[in-house]
Amino acid sequence: MKIGFIGTGKIGKAIILGLLQGKTASQEILVYNGGHQSAQKVASELNLHLVDEYAAFNECQAVIVAVGGPVINSILQKLGQEYHGIIMSTGGGDLEEINRELPEDSAFVKIVPNTPVQIGEGITVASFVAGEKETAIATVKAIFAQMGSVYVVPADLLGIYGTVAGCTPAYVALMIEALSDAAVQNGVKREQAYQIVEQMLLGTAELALTSKKLPEELKDEVTTPGGSTIRGVAKLEETGFRGALIQAINASAK
Ligand SMILES: NC(=O)c1ccc[n+]([C@@H]2O[C@H](COP(=O)([O-])OP(=O)(O)OC[C@H]3O[C@@H](n4cnc5c(N)ncnc54)[C@H](OP(=O)(O)O)[C@@H]3O)[C@@H](O)[C@H]2O)c1
Repeated sequence: MKIGFIGTGKIGKAIILGLLQGKTASQEILVYNGGHQSAQKVASELNLHLVDEYAAFNECQAVIVAVGGPVINSILQKLGQEYHGIIMSTGGGDLEEINRELPEDSAFVKIVPNTPVQIGEGITVASFVAGEKETAIATVKAIFAQMGSVYVVPADLLGIYGTVAGCTPAYVALMIEALSDAAVQNGVKREQAYQIVEQMLLGTAELALTSKKLPEELKDEVTTPGGSTIRGVAKLEETGFRGALIQAINASAK
């Protein structure tokens, strides 16, 4: 399956890496050049096919637009005129309005992938217009299933699902940094601090997923009465850890 890209910044490149570690060959990925240095750099680094016109995407089953900001609307309008197929946007674009303007054989889909897609461990949230063709839905699911889980949600919930899946890797990175800083402060070597904290997060998430235990059960298993863990948990409560995370999600979701 050939897939086109307009925009190969942070999320565009993460999706491309996700495709490459999946079933897609590098020469099946077409990247719009448009004089963008990032496109030229990513295409040469990953041996992708550079194209100079949107019409060249007509050999692709789908085109992913991974560009932010107000320029997205003019890109989507021009692409809709020159390319017939599935158009996906990681950023702006009104689902209903753009679908209304597209020809019958095209589809516009909104997607929010998170950065772990690049290692096949990602989450992609997608919204389709009501009554979207089953073939378009199946194609989008097949593309992103190569790089993790896919959730299809109503358009009015795309923002919050995207926030929970897509913004939180930054929160977790902060947590890794802070826990490692504290470890280093108390004498652990920096490299080992990162390794231990990262492995602990992976293991805890895996345990939660496979055991299906509630978070409170997992916490209770570690907290010996009068022990060191409950002292740390109490300090987190005192300093508003859970409230801070809730507020962060609410701020990101605005
Ligand atoms: N980063 C994430 O985790 C994430 C997750 C989900 C969704 N998103 C959304 O995805 C969008 C892109 O985010 P990003 O983080 O990938 O941004 P980014 O790193 O700034 O990348 C944007 C890319 O778009 C290119 N570009 C800009 N204007 C263009 C144009 N007119 N035609 C073709 N290419 C153009 C840029 O190329 P040059 O820099 O070379 O000009 C760059 O490659 C945003 O709306 C963001 O909210 C991001």
